[in-house]
Amino acid sequence: MAAANAATFPFFIPKVKERVKDMKVVFIGDIVGNVGRDTVKRLLPWIKDKYNPHIIIANGENAAGGRGITASIARELFEWGVHGITMGNHTWDNREIFEFIDDEPRIIRPSNLPPGTPGRGSMIVKGNGKELGVVNLIGRTFLPPAECPFRTADDEIEELHRHTKCVLVDFHAEATSEKIAMGWHLDGYASLVVGTHTHVQTNDARILPEGTAYLTDAGMTGPRDGVLGMDKEVVLRRFITGMPGRFTVADGKWTLNGVFVDIDEATGKAVKVQNITVDEDSWIAV
Ligand SMILES: [Fe+2]
Repeated sequence: MAAANAATFPFFIPKVKERVKDMKVVFIGDIVGNVGRDTVKRLLPWIKDKYNPHIIIANGENAAGGRGITASIARELFEWGVHGITMGNHTWDNREIFEFIDDEPRIIRPSNLPPGTPGRGSMIVKGNGKELGVVNLIGRTFLPPAECPFRTADDEIEELHRHTKCVLVDFHAEATSEKIAMGWHLDGYASLVVGTHTHVQTNDARILPEGTAYLTDAGMTGPRDGVLGMDKEVVLRRFITGMPGRFTVADGKWTLNGVFVDIDEATGKAVKVQNITVDEDSWIAV
């Protein structure tokens, strides 16, 4: 009798690969002034169409004229489709924030500020049936003193993991070395570690060995042809003459920068990470 063809036995039939139950997240880099806000409003429909995100997070610490955020600006961002807002070293620059930060669960400031600071440093963001933990931290290199961001991250993520395995960390820091160190520190614990604050997007998005997506800096969303979003003439004059001058948000063409991450909900690990970078000359409306 001829040997049975092994391929005919059911247990040799390759299993259909189970689809990953995923959570797609878009993070929008530091929104600067009215140009940044107008850009977010104009491009959110395109972002939703292209990336199909369940949840959209944005850094809003420069949204009000480059300094802080107001209640009406936050309301607009939420209306347009942003689910949660992170902040940074400019959190308190617009004093209006003291009136609403304690009552607005969708805005967080850096968690590693001293005890007693208003607001909170982490949140659970809900969107399209998904829940994402978000932590905001501030660096200690070339920035004012703060508690240890690494130990604070450990505590915050441990707490968030009681609710969800999917956690995004916005590390608002100046030094690339400090941000890279945070990526390694949180590899396997956070789903995405993304840097903010320097306003220039880095080209190093990748998934670290234990499954954490990482990008040193998301870049900014605002006027493309200034200096980090500020009017270039004022900045140049200050560099060249050393004389003081008040920075104002630049005009002109816009740029939008951020990052997309696809997370396996079962494990909290990233399965895909991708830079988002478009400007007025490169973007083609769909
Ligand atoms: Fe900043």
